[in-house]
Amino acid sequence: MISHPRPIRLHVNIDHVATVRNARGTFYPDPIEAAAACIAAGADGITAHLREDRRHIRDADVERIRTSLRTTFNFEMAATNEMVAIATRVKPDVVTLVPERREERTTEGGLEVAGAGPDLARHVAALRDAGVKVSLFIAADPRQIEASAALGVQQIELHTGEYAHASTPADLARELARLVDGAALASKVGLEVAAGHGLTRANVGALMTAREIVELNIGHAIIADAIFLSIAGAVREMRSAIDAGVAAR
Ligand code: PXP
Repeated sequence: MISHPRPIRLHVNIDHVATVRNARGTFYPDPIEAAAACIAAGADGITAHLREDRRHIRDADVERIRTSLRTTFNFEMAATNEMVAIATRVKPDVVTLVPERREERTTEGGLEVAGAGPDLARHVAALRDAGVKVSLFIAADPRQIEASAALGVQQIELHTGEYAHASTPADLARELARLVDGAALASKVGLEVAAGHGLTRANVGALMTAREIVELNIGHAIIADAIFLSIAGAVREMRSAIDAGVAAR
C-alpha cells in the first residue's frame, strides 16, 4: 500500500499518561507504551513537556521516548540553561519553547518573544547548533510572530487556549479570526505553523480554516477520550475530526 503524507501532522502529547502514573507512584500506565499505541493508531509524532517540577513526564521518560520513538519527538520545555542542556544531549527532533510558571495548572500564555532579552536568542542558537528544530509557543500576535521570525526559528506554535475556552459565539469568532490571521502572517514570514492547547474533537475542525496550520499538538482531550474510546480510538477519532475540518473548508 502506498502511503501519502498527510497534510496535517498530529502530535499526541502524552504528559497526562504520566500524570495518572505519578498519582500512585506506580510504573503504569507507561507513557512510552502510550506513545507507541498513538503512533500505531496513526499519530505522526509525540509531544512531551518536561516541567521544572517534573509533575508529569520525568527525565527517564525523555530518554526512553528518544530511544524508542521512530517518528518525530517534539520536546516542550522552558527556555532555561537546565532544559537546553538536556535537549542538546537528548536531541529531540523538535524543541518547542514554552513559558513556564511553577504555580500554573498548565501552560497558560504564550512565550514573550518580542522584547525578550539575549537569553532567548542564546538558547535558540544552542538548540539550532545541536541540529534541533526550534518552535516557539506564542500568541497569534503579529509582534510575537515577527519577533519569532527575526530570531531565526523554523516554526511557531499558535496558542489556541483562548479559542478553546471562548464562551460566547462572538468571542469564538474573534479568537478564530486571530488565529487565521496569525497563521497567514507566520507563513508569509517563512515560519511553519503549528497550533495547540485545549483542542478537542469538538473545536479542532473549525480551526482548520487556518489553512497554513500544518501541525497540531493535542494532549489532554485525547488522553481523556482514551478513557472511553481506548487510546487508539481516541487518536483515530481526533484524526477524523481534523480531516472533517479540512474537508469542510
Ligand atoms: N502545545 C503546547 C505548547 C503545550 O504546552 C500544551 C500543553 O502542555 C499542548 C500543546 C497540549 O495542550 P492540551 O493538553 O490542552 O491538548
